[in-house]
Amino acid sequence: MELRALGTQGLHVSAEGLGCMGMSAFYGATDETESLATIARALELGVTMLDTAEGYGPFHNERLIGKALAGRNREDVVIATKTGVEFDDDGTLHGFNGSPEYIHRAADRSLRHLGTDHIDLYYLHRIDPDVPVEESMGAMSELVAAGKIRYVGVSEAAAATIRRAHAVHPLTAVQTEYSLFERGIEGDGVRATLDELGIGLVAYSPLGRGFLSGAITSPDQFAADDFRRTDPRFQGENFASNLAVVDAVRRLAEEKSVTPSQLALAWVLHQGAVAIPGTKRRRYLEENVAATGITITEQDIAEIEAVAPRGVASGDRYSADLMQSLNG
Ligand SMILES: NC(=O)c1ccc[n+]([C@@H]2O[C@H](COP(=O)([O-])OP(=O)(O)OC[C@H]3O[C@@H](n4cnc5c(N)ncnc54)[C@H](OP(=O)(O)O)[C@@H]3O)[C@@H](O)[C@H]2O)c1
Repeated sequence: MELRALGTQGLHVSAEGLGCMGMSAFYGATDETESLATIARALELGVTMLDTAEGYGPFHNERLIGKALAGRNREDVVIATKTGVEFDDDGTLHGFNGSPEYIHRAADRSLRHLGTDHIDLYYLHRIDPDVPVEESMGAMSELVAAGKIRYVGVSEAAAATIRRAHAVHPLTAVQTEYSLFERGIEGDGVRATLDELGIGLVAYSPLGRGFLSGAITSPDQFAADDFRRTDPRFQGENFASNLAVVDAVRRLAEEKSVTPSQLALAWVLHQGAVAIPGTKRRRYLEENVAATGITITEQDIAEIEAVAPRGVASGDRYSADLMQSLNG
């Protein structure tokens, strides 16, 4: 698989990473055996970056990755994990905490759970409104100096925040939601800031949390505790109108003899982002990895644009309280 420079600080990763979140949380039932097999298959297919966070589980996902990587050559894998949402050691959630004290404590805990002596890419998962981002980044910089982390990123940060963070320690990547269903960064200055400062873009939920795969035809498919039951895009009239967009994407995909997931991923990759589609099964992984071999022409882009222009998805991407917690 193609390796891409992620940002300009020296990190190189596969064009597609593997989003591991669903193996532990948010998207219904999990299966550890299939999850471990999926991670192994991803590495075999040339995926080098595994995306996790201490909050996925909490801790279960980092431990799973630790298990998957045991006995492997550590330098073959880029582990990307996240801090800044506070959990006690027993998993009790306290909310955002971007204080240097917490970041140091959480980093040591993540290293333990991952079974490694360094994290390749460490993100501030959310910006703590009560802690100046300069203080959080100061801790990240100390972690780099201590050799505990190699590269620094932030997730879901506004353009001005990215600038402030980058001034303290050069950012390698910003992780944010980006897909045919979510193109906010094209209009709010984030994308332009990343390009100006030489910071890489890591696109999370590149399949619109699975919607763009075409496999979701009713919200009733979701388990009772599936996060998407609270996601406005999967509710009521929004669901119906978003499904119509997916149907149009599917028709374009069929004309190219690819699947809707593959077309959606190829579009994200064409925008210069590193995509981290999430799956907990080998079958989807293999389909998604094959998207890296698809050539997207300018005509394809125009046809996609015609059925899925910026802002096409109906409904906010998070519930009202979670929308409020995003750095704006
Ligand atoms: N920074 C942040 O705040 C943040 C937020 C959300 C996610 N993330 C990261 O981004 C990663 C990806 O995002 P995501 O998992 O939310 O959304 P996504 O990649 O857009 O979609 C994942 C969903 O799509 C399904 N899927 C994947 N490939 C498929 C295929 N080929 N055909 C049919 N269905 C398919 C998965 O099913 P199965 O699960 O059944 O395999 C899962 O339900 C996460 O794993 C996580 O690491 C970060």
